[in-house]
Amino acid sequence: MTSRPSQQIDDPTEKRRFLKQLLFGTGAAYLFAPFYAVWRYLVSPSEKRVPIAPLTLNGSDMENKRYTFLRFGDKNVLVRHDADAVRAFNLRCTHAGCTVEWQDAAQKFVCHCHGAEFHADGTVAKLPATEPLEELTVRREQGRMILFDEAKQR
Ligand code: FES
Repeated sequence: MTSRPSQQIDDPTEKRRFLKQLLFGTGAAYLFAPFYAVWRYLVSPSEKRVPIAPLTLNGSDMENKRYTFLRFGDKNVLVRHDADAVRAFNLRCTHAGCTVEWQDAAQKFVCHCHGAEFHADGTVAKLPATEPLEELTVRREQGRMILFDEAKQR
C-alpha cells in the first residue's frame, strides 16, 4: 500500500499539470520582470527616501557662527544666521545634483558644474537650474533651534 503523495507524483496527469503550472509561473515572472524594473526606475527617489531625524542646532559653537556647514542625513546643508532668522539650505544643485558653493562676498550660491547661480534666498539667479535650492525648515521649540527634514514653505 502506498501513501497518497507518492501516488500523485507517479500519476502522469498530475506530473503534466504540475509542469504546466511551473511553466506558467516561470513565464509570468519572466514577462513581468521588465515591467517591474521600469516601474522601479520611474518611482521618484524622493518617494523612496527615508526621513532624517530632527537635529538640534543649539550648543557647541554653532550658535555663534554666521555660517555652519553640516551633514544632515544624505544632505550637505548650509545653516545661515541671518539678521531676522536662521535659514538652512540643501546645497544640492537642482540642475543635476552637484554641490553648490556659498560665496559670502557675493552673497550667492554658485554651482561650478554648469554655472548655475542662486540668490541668498535660494531662488534661481542664473540658468541652467530652473528650480530653487531646497530650503529646510528651522523652528524654535522650547528654546531650542531645531532643523527638520522638510522643505520650508516659500
Ligand atoms: Fe549645477 Fe548643473 S549641476 S548647474
